[in-house]
Amino acid sequence: MMQVKIFTKGDHKILHGDIVDALNSIEDNSVNLIFADPPYNIGKNFNGRKDRWVSRTSYMKWCKQWIGLAINKLKSNGSMYIMSATQFAPDFEFFLRSRIEMKSRIIWSYDSSGVQAKTNFGSLYEPILFCVKDKYKYTFNSKAILIKTKTGAERKLINYRTNPPRPYNKKKIPGNVWHFPRVRYRMEEYEEHPTQKPKVLLERIIKVSSRKNDLVLDLFSGTFTTSLVAKELNRKSIGIEIDEGFVKVGLRRLKIRQQYKKEKLLPVIKPYIRRNSKEKTVEKRTVAGSRIIYLKRKKAV
Ligand SMILES: C[S@@+](CC[C@H](N)C(=O)[O-])C[C@H]1O[C@@H](n2cnc3c(N)ncnc32)[C@H](O)[C@@H]1O
Repeated sequence: MMQVKIFTKGDHKILHGDIVDALNSIEDNSVNLIFADPPYNIGKNFNGRKDRWVSRTSYMKWCKQWIGLAINKLKSNGSMYIMSATQFAPDFEFFLRSRIEMKSRIIWSYDSSGVQAKTNFGSLYEPILFCVKDKYKYTFNSKAILIKTKTGAERKLINYRTNPPRPYNKKKIPGNVWHFPRVRYRMEEYEEHPTQKPKVLLERIIKVSSRKNDLVLDLFSGTFTTSLVAKELNRKSIGIEIDEGFVKVGLRRLKIRQQYKKEKLLPVIKPYIRRNSKEKTVEKRTVAGSRIIYLKRKKAV
């Protein structure tokens, strides 16, 4: 058993420790929304902690343990979203169906400019399983997540199937395929983490499945995207993370601490080179929050 360290400020809490120990320290039936983004068992490197189990069975055994505990933490009208690698989604779903109500299989799709698969179809999506504790009683604020329709309304067409005929709706509730870009180096929200999730993804989930002042539980917090978005949307949050380096990111992003063990918690420095062909210069810049800082500027050769 690992000791769980707690950091709190206002309505936001970070539990630094192992998922099972941390979950055991949370009251049952107290959480409105859970977002779980676990290691995918695909060999990523989380600050030296390996994301690879000896077998599919041992990986799923571990997942079943924390999922079981997580479900106990949910209120009777609570919702849970679980992400997984595409190849493990059926195992997750099979288990979830025995414990909770499955509502949707959401596909988070994105484009990739990186390494392309040569002998298979490249993986350009991640599954998100949306479940609820009670099939009929759960929060779903559909009006909070409306998106623009692309077809009839944009072309100002009339729907003659309704009586009387009406113009097509301009807005709709998103379907279960969500297109959001992944977090890139130059984006303001970028942190040093191999699998940081974009804020827009969590905005949709938190807006639709929780209300103001509800408690959001962020399992496997990483860069604490979920807790941060919960805070920005006036929800309460608890985030769980095992790695001290990532906990420091959370302490800074959530403004819980400015210092940790005498170290000032500063945003990542992201230097990059930019060629300005008009002025014929090469600039080395960095971004601090939304500010651009020029590190070096010289004439292009
Ligand atoms: C897929 S990442 C989460 C990324 C996060 N959603 C974000 O937006 O940054 C999984 C995280 O789980 C953490 N982790 C791995 N094993 C853990 C455990 N046993 N208990 C708690 N956290 C763990 C890793 O350090 C990693 O940061």
